[in-house]
Amino acid sequence: MAKIKTAYFCQNCGAQSPKWIGRCTSCGEWNTYVEELVEKESPGKQTVAWKSESDKTSRRSKPRTLKEIDYVQEERYDSFDTELNRVLGGGIVPGSLVLIGGEPGIGKSTLMLQIALKLKGKKVLYVSGEESEQQIKMRAGRMQFHSDDCYILTEVSTQNIFQQVKEMKPEILIIDSIQTLNTSFVESAPGTISQVKQCTAELMKFAKESAVPVFMIGHINKDGAIAGPKVLEHMVDTVLQFEGDRHLAYRILRTTKNRFGSTSELGIYEMQHTGLREVSNPSEILITQKEHDLSGVSIGATLEGKRPLLIEIQSLVSTAAYGNPQRSTTGFDVKRLNMLLAVLEKRGGFRLGIQDVFLNIAGGLKVEDPALDLAVCVALVSSYGEHSVSEKACFAAEVGLGGEIRAVSHLESRIAEAAKLGFAQIFVSKYGLKGINLKKFDIEVKAFGKLSEVFAALF
Ligand code: TYD
Ligand code: MG
Repeated sequence: MAKIKTAYFCQNCGAQSPKWIGRCTSCGEWNTYVEELVEKESPGKQTVAWKSESDKTSRRSKPRTLKEIDYVQEERYDSFDTELNRVLGGGIVPGSLVLIGGEPGIGKSTLMLQIALKLKGKKVLYVSGEESEQQIKMRAGRMQFHSDDCYILTEVSTQNIFQQVKEMKPEILIIDSIQTLNTSFVESAPGTISQVKQCTAELMKFAKESAVPVFMIGHINKDGAIAGPKVLEHMVDTVLQFEGDRHLAYRILRTTKNRFGSTSELGIYEMQHTGLREVSNPSEILITQKEHDLSGVSIGATLEGKRPLLIEIQSLVSTAAYGNPQRSTTGFDVKRLNMLLAVLEKRGGFRLGIQDVFLNIAGGLKVEDPALDLAVCVALVSSYGEHSVSEKACFAAEVGLGGEIRAVSHLESRIAEAAKLGFAQIFVSKYGLKGINLKKFDIEVKAFGKLSEVFAALF
């Protein structure tokens, strides 16, 4: 009789334990362990459907020196989507396994179907375990793309999928979503940790052996009822995060892991009724058409990956109506805000301790770039003192604890972007200008060493 092996898995983080425990020792969540069947057949008996009989003989690998390994610059496919190309580091890498995570309803299926339709001339297999063929056709009908090389398969069993793949030989495989797949090698229900892990391992093996790139969609679920893609991040080559506010049209595709490129790249899309539009000049949407003389608004020159962005920072400083002053932010780290408030209080003499402070990054973007510090300080002081900032000015500098203005990375590209967008002045640190030829930019670069000097020049 086949030996049945079970284990307990934390449904939150994927940790495994031989016995049930109340509190997960790795993530600290309570009551998340569920018993799952791990193995039905012994691994030696497993057959892999996409291989033909002849390549089932195992290929042994031998240790080799780096010099002996042939390396050809990996060729990449153009996805015909500049934003996706950018986040992937220059295109789709053959044989890579890419996970696209995001909350339900954010637009993951829309994005992947759109990519499938854009990839004209490449045979794409879009496997859906979530929607019927009719639903997918309806969705495709809304988009302005059309492709005769995109095949739709509604299937959840990995063995059947690989069977179809073997016959059809697609050049790109898309799985929507990994949580709906099941493999017959594991007996627990679809969506459980062991199923999701095993299905991913099979897809990984397929991608590596056939050099077909595989995209898989994964849901993020806050209450941990479905295995979140967190556990899969170690297994796949690239993790993309599709995020944004469901009530706003803008969606951001961010890389959180990439074995073939940088992780600081960012793609921006706008959800329209005809699918997702690539936003090639994000600064335009991130700076809203503002009324003249509005206090509390400033523009910061930030960098996402290698891409400079000018974004609008809005703040509201008003006397606390109740005992405890509130500090609330959207898109900005509240700890960083508290630090900047303390600097303004101590070094600038602004009495902000008794004020409610609200800070908002326009456009629903989340930023961590310290180069926004100066723009944040300016917005706060502008709102506090009811002085407006010229709409032709923008800021790119870090603020230190001593109230000093510090240099930031890639200043040149920030200045160039500000000049391109028609700003008249950019406020930067005087310590970061070495080696930059300011004459070539059509913008006045104002350099300062201290926060107080900036305020004196502005207000
Ligand atoms: P969907 O791709 O189904 O989300 P996910 O796969 O991440 O769960 O997208 C859901 C939303 O996108 C849905 O509310 C409708 C909207 N949408 C548009 O606004 N325009 C479109 O052209 C399409 C196809 C969808
Ligand atoms: Mg979907």
